[in-house]
Amino acid sequence: MAILRIFKHGESVLKKVSRPVDCGAIRGELPKLLKDMWATMESVRGVGLAAPQVGINLRLSVVDVRPEGKSKRLVLINPEILSREGSVFEEEGCLSVPGLYAKIQRFARVRLRALDEHGEPYEMDGEGLLARAFQHEVDHLDGRLFIDHLAFAERLKLMPLLKDLRRTWQ
Ligand code: NI
Repeated sequence: MAILRIFKHGESVLKKVSRPVDCGAIRGELPKLLKDMWATMESVRGVGLAAPQVGINLRLSVVDVRPEGKSKRLVLINPEILSREGSVFEEEGCLSVPGLYAKIQRFARVRLRALDEHGEPYEMDGEGLLARAFQHEVDHLDGRLFIDHLAFAERLKLMPLLKDLRRTWQ
């Protein structure tokens, strides 16, 4: 088990559209990659971590929003959002943009389809933090960060802060 380096805002791997996982082709490597992703996410108390955040452009994320304070690990392989409803405007953050939180608009409820760690398909309804995590993770796999949802004026205001953040990890 290894703690992986988390790639940060400004690194190109986060901007790429990740390619679908071929579960058969990576069956050998998948258990170790997932173990490392869980360890990495939990070492920094995250609620979600996408493969591009550890430098791998595959459509794979791990999520644990700890419903009722207890761990509930979800593996999202090739996730797709099937339906979206309502809207919320809540503060969000990301392990790839450390220390920065901002309110963005998300759908309040979504239905997700994905494959689990065994390559078995499942569907799940999410609301609250889970709905936001699903949208946040699918965004990562499409090369988007939560700050890309900010209005232009908001982003301009954050620009100096983002530049400072970048300096601290280079
Ligand atoms: Ni994130």
